[in-house]
Amino acid sequence: MSDVALLLLLALSNVVNVYGDVEQCGSNPKLDPRPHSVSILEFGAVGDGKTLNTIAFQNAIFYLKSFADKGGAQLYVPPGNWLTGSFNLTSHLTLFLEKGAVIIGSQDPSHWDVIEALPSYGRGKDVPDGRYKSLINGNKLEDVVITGNNGTIDGNGMVWWEWYKSHSLNHSRPHLVEIISSDSVVVSNLTFLNAPAYSIHPVYCRNVHIQNISISAPPESPYTAGIVPDSSDNVCIEDCIVSIGYDAISLKSGWDEYGIAYGRPVEKVHIRRVQLHAFSGSAISFGTEMSGGISNVLIEHVHVWNSNSGIEFRTNIGRGGYIKEIAISNIEMENVYTAISAKGNSGFHPDDKFDPKALPLLNHITLKDIIGTNITVAGSFSGIEESPFTNICLSNITLSINSASSVTWECSNVSGFSDSVFPKPCQELSNPSNSSSSCFYLMSLGGKTAGF
Ligand SMILES: *[C@@H]1O[C@H](CO)[C@@H](O)[C@H](O)[C@H]1NC(C)=O
Ligand SMILES: *[C@@H]1O[C@H](CO)[C@@H](O)[C@H](O)[C@H]1NC(C)=O
Ligand SMILES: *[C@@H]1O[C@H](CO)[C@@H](O)[C@H](O)[C@H]1NC(C)=O
Ligand SMILES: *[C@@H]1O[C@H](CO)[C@@H](O)[C@H](O)[C@H]1NC(C)=O
Ligand SMILES: *[C@@H]1O[C@H](CO)[C@@H](O)[C@H](O)[C@H]1NC(C)=O
Ligand SMILES: *[C@@H]1O[C@H](CO)[C@@H](O)[C@H](O)[C@H]1NC(C)=O
Ligand SMILES: *[C@@H]1O[C@H](CO)[C@@H](O)[C@H](O)[C@H]1NC(C)=O
Ligand SMILES: *[C@@H]1O[C@H](CO)[C@@H](O)[C@H](O)[C@H]1NC(C)=O
Ligand SMILES: *[C@@H]1O[C@H](CO)[C@@H](O)[C@H](O)[C@H]1NC(C)=O
Repeated sequence: MSDVALLLLLALSNVVNVYGDVEQCGSNPKLDPRPHSVSILEFGAVGDGKTLNTIAFQNAIFYLKSFADKGGAQLYVPPGNWLTGSFNLTSHLTLFLEKGAVIIGSQDPSHWDVIEALPSYGRGKDVPDGRYKSLINGNKLEDVVITGNNGTIDGNGMVWWEWYKSHSLNHSRPHLVEIISSDSVVVSNLTFLNAPAYSIHPVYCRNVHIQNISISAPPESPYTAGIVPDSSDNVCIEDCIVSIGYDAISLKSGWDEYGIAYGRPVEKVHIRRVQLHAFSGSAISFGTEMSGGISNVLIEHVHVWNSNSGIEFRTNIGRGGYIKEIAISNIEMENVYTAISAKGNSGFHPDDKFDPKALPLLNHITLKDIIGTNITVAGSFSGIEESPFTNICLSNITLSINSASSVTWECSNVSGFSDSVFPKPCQELSNPSNSSSSCFYLMSLGGKTAGF
């Protein structure tokens, strides 16, 4: 959309805020073939599922570094079971997994380096002391592509889940893929299995495109997550299927005093055409780590099934930051305990140095065109007394509530507007003195107003 059109729209309508930049998924990532390609076999790798191939991956990538200024290169992984510890990617690299190629994470913790906590978190999430580096990782890179012909990256997470549950971890669990402080990252056409913790974690990144991947881990895997865009901007997630233990897609931006000091929001995020199953967490969650802020998020065409929660906003006193200017539409849910929830007392604090006066803001959230079957709680909103949740706008929402339900809407310290919502929301969200003009509106890709 041109600036002129944006200004015109602002001038013509009684609009509080316009999402002027939903082009994140507008164009397909430009993937020029790399002029150089080598196979992991050329570096002595053995695909028997037993031989450890960490050195082969490290050597191959070290070699391919020299092609960074010559148009970049591809590392080809043929069919086979390629056991490895963690390895680094490099800039202008395509990691390509052929059909039948499976990169498998070693279950020996000594094959995973231990690294410092992310600055916006101040500590590891599972245990304070350090964290294992992700299986595949990148730091300060440009133009990285992880793709293939439905190859698989398998984190072999069962041992990590057991160590988590039995409190025997010495450091926080590793992720499957973590890309830090990088620009132009594409992840596509692959299957990700059994992540020890998160499956895909872009943090402090710009221009991230995640397309046509499938992610899964068993329902009982503790606090496993699918895609976690963290303190990153210009992120597109589309045409993905995620079936996971905890959160399928979670937007984050740092934790309490560490996240406030780092101050990097997650923003300009577009999520569309995704199918999500989040057994004990939420299909889509915001926070609970959100201290750098979360804004300008458009989510559309989502199918949620068999999940504890459909859409959940999480924050807490001490987080600071904000969750604002979020537009969510065309959501279909089935067998979901709580369809929509917003919690002002979620999660724990990294340590006791958090500032109890750092109150988060939750404002300008629009949810529309939602249909749900076999829902137990339609909406649960518990805001913060000193910083109530405001301008929550609900429209065209029809949820069929099951017989196990005793409360359909729970509301405190929240206000907003609703139109055509069944069952009828609580009074705080349907106060006649509130009007739709305070709702967050957005422009859809076709240039039509997608508000109400
Ligand atoms: C991997 O990258 C980290 C920096 O992110 C660096 O400290 C480490 O030496 C690299 N390892 C290899 C094997 O290149
Ligand atoms: C999605 O990825 C699979 C391989 O994983 C591929 O066969 C298929 O063509 C891809 N679809 C699109 C639309 O890119
Ligand atoms: C991709 O691979 C996974 C696991 O190997 C398989 O379950 C799935 O059906 C495959 N998808 C496509 C599109 O071939
Ligand atoms: C944690 O450290 C202890 C002591 O070094 C060791 O015995 C144990 O195996 C470690 N646990 C894990 C999961 O690595
Ligand atoms: C995914 O695979 C399909 C089919 O091979 C291909 O057309 C498409 O370009 C790939 N997409 C990406 C982003 O790699
Ligand atoms: C309804 O959803 C709940 C989960 O909230 C699930 O346990 C139950 O089996 C579902 N009922 C039917 C009839 O599918
Ligand atoms: C209401 O939402 C449903 C999808 O849940 C959609 O099919 C329908 O067109 C919407 N109605 C209006 C009036 O926008
Ligand atoms: C805000 O929440 C607190 C704690 O749940 C509750 O005691 C208080 O009455 C609420 N305030 C309003 C205005 O609803
Ligand atoms: C909605 O109405 C309530 C109660 O009248 C009021 O406190 C709140 O500020 C209103 N919210 C907006 C966004 O107008």
